[in-house]
Amino acid sequence: MTVENHHKINTSKLDEILASYEYKKSNLIAILQKVQEVYRYLPEDAMIYIGTKIEGLSPATVFGVATFYAQFSLEPKGKFEIKVCDGTACHVRGSMPVLNAIKNKLELKDGSMTTEDGLFSLETVSCLGACGLAPVVVINDKVYPQMTSDAISIVLDTLLKEGR
Ligand code: FES
Repeated sequence: MTVENHHKINTSKLDEILASYEYKKSNLIAILQKVQEVYRYLPEDAMIYIGTKIEGLSPATVFGVATFYAQFSLEPKGKFEIKVCDGTACHVRGSMPVLNAIKNKLELKDGSMTTEDGLFSLETVSCLGACGLAPVVVINDKVYPQMTSDAISIVLDTLLKEGR
């Protein structure tokens, strides 16, 4: 991690957030939640900035906290947020082949979960409470029941046309 590239983020916005939480270490989680609300994820530069501005913290500590909690995303979310359920029912009924089909289709490599054009982001989630429809995929707020590799591929084609 480097300390350059502060220009990519709006430090006055960050200072505003930090000030509203009195630059306090004990408010770190709330501060990160607020920053995530603004950017829809936690930009690395924002974490570095916070780590240098709060007494008793370091960028590495902020980064550690952010990676520890599942609620924080270190990658930008796409215009289409794809959630693949990998709860037990969905897993048993084939959520992993569906997930792999999505990764192939979107050419997500090397563990990256967001497409380079920012159109799609992908994550796995635990039971969505719709096990009867397993395997379930949710894209933004729309539920796609009983997904197969072929079906998700058609859905993605449609979204690709819409989104580009
Ligand atoms: S396990 Fe997927 S909805 Fe319950």
